[in-house]
Amino acid sequence: MSKIFTAEEVATHNTAESCWVVLYGNVYDVTSFLPEHPGGSKIILKLAGRDATEEYDPIHPEGTLDELPPEAKLGTIDPKTLSSALAPASEEPQDATEPSKPSGPPPLEFLMNMNEIEEAAASQISRKAWAYYFSASDDMVSKNFNNAVYNSILLRPRMFVDCSRWDTSTALLGHPVGLPLFVAPAAMARLAHADGEAGIARACSKFNALQILSQNASMKPEQVVAGAAPGQVFGWQLYVQNQRSKSEAMLKRIGGMRDKFKFIVLTLDAAVPGKRELDEKQQFLNNSAVTAAVGEGSKPDEKGPGVGGVGQQLFFGTACDLTWQTTLPWLAKHTDLPIVLKGIQTHEDAYLAAQYAPQVKGIILSNHGGRALDTAPPAVHTLLEIRKYCPEVLNTIEVWVDGGIKRGTDIVKALCLGAKGVGIGRGALYGLGAGGQKGVERVFDILKGEVETCMRLLGVEKVSQLGPRFINTSSLERDIYNGPSNLDTGLWTKAKL
Ligand code: LAC
Repeated sequence: MSKIFTAEEVATHNTAESCWVVLYGNVYDVTSFLPEHPGGSKIILKLAGRDATEEYDPIHPEGTLDELPPEAKLGTIDPKTLSSALAPASEEPQDATEPSKPSGPPPLEFLMNMNEIEEAAASQISRKAWAYYFSASDDMVSKNFNNAVYNSILLRPRMFVDCSRWDTSTALLGHPVGLPLFVAPAAMARLAHADGEAGIARACSKFNALQILSQNASMKPEQVVAGAAPGQVFGWQLYVQNQRSKSEAMLKRIGGMRDKFKFIVLTLDAAVPGKRELDEKQQFLNNSAVTAAVGEGSKPDEKGPGVGGVGQQLFFGTACDLTWQTTLPWLAKHTDLPIVLKGIQTHEDAYLAAQYAPQVKGIILSNHGGRALDTAPPAVHTLLEIRKYCPEVLNTIEVWVDGGIKRGTDIVKALCLGAKGVGIGRGALYGLGAGGQKGVERVFDILKGEVETCMRLLGVEKVSQLGPRFINTSSLERDIYNGPSNLDTGLWTKAKL
């Protein structure tokens, strides 16, 4: 029979020498696991001797506990003894200056645009989740510019064109989809809502939209695709791990679900996380809890996993030694799924990626939602740079974009510039925060409706008809990279596969 522990007993095991936690009513000794925790040991120590379920649940896919050796499970907790001693440290200390949160989600049909979806999400989700999703690097110049840049592009609508028919359907990497909008990989959806990534998938199925599942998803890939509609298309995002065997095992697992996962998205734009001050600041809310857990000599502002924000924790264990020469050949050995390289920000890298076709079937022009290198260019700039220096890339591989999308007109403008697909990352998470699966459906409703209106007012029936003649980018041209092409220096030769 399993041993039953009291809260007081568990509470005494709150150090790196003996670290117990309560999860889902069970007591675990995680002392030997501390150095291996992907998010670093300090994040566990913060919860040592306590019920960690509330903190643990939204960010760990089901089955994660199976990675612990069986002897780590010591027994169960006597629920009657649960008291404040065992309760997780309050994530949100009472703050008289913080407005009180409305009790329930707003009626979704009242939300008219992506800004209102974002506001509604902010009113529903925890401060920690909000800080993680909303944050971007340094002064958030890239994050804000990603969106603002679309307003510098003017549309050129044609008149006397029959607009009684319209069709947003298209194909991405040869797979038919209902609209050119896709869900970009974004971590930890269950921080926003219990529906999580599976809720996003169900919303996508209603619109036949493509979804790229984050390597840092809060649900298992199997769970996310379980209820997929026939023909629903998914990609899986890979952050290569220092321990390559872990990535190799994941690639194999994803390859086993190739009826659903049609490609691998290798993220390149965040070799290390940017300095996301809003996210990192969250640690100070639990300042005393951290100090108590990690003890003297270890300060809450110490650099390292588990001490910074959610972002820093997630990046623990991620490889930062990827190269054109080594990583694509390694990938070729471990998956025959097509590769989409995410995070291309110059025409040189776009050109080089195209040299790797057909292994590389696409690229996503992205600055990681402004969460990596601040003042890196928005996708629109890179797209214009590609058009200027190596337009053939657009015919060799598919070019997708993400970052800053808030309106249907933004989507249409990116398509006019040659993008085949347009991703939303935060937008889907905010939809989830505003109303779970239904909130994500509302996001698709809004953006699809806006795309349709834009296409009809431009005098365009089909996505394939969109092109540069429908936009005026003159006011941007001055800001587009204007140096040498750098394509004939010999630096950009393809590595041997
Ligand atoms: C982030 C990573 C995990 O931006 O993609 O937080």
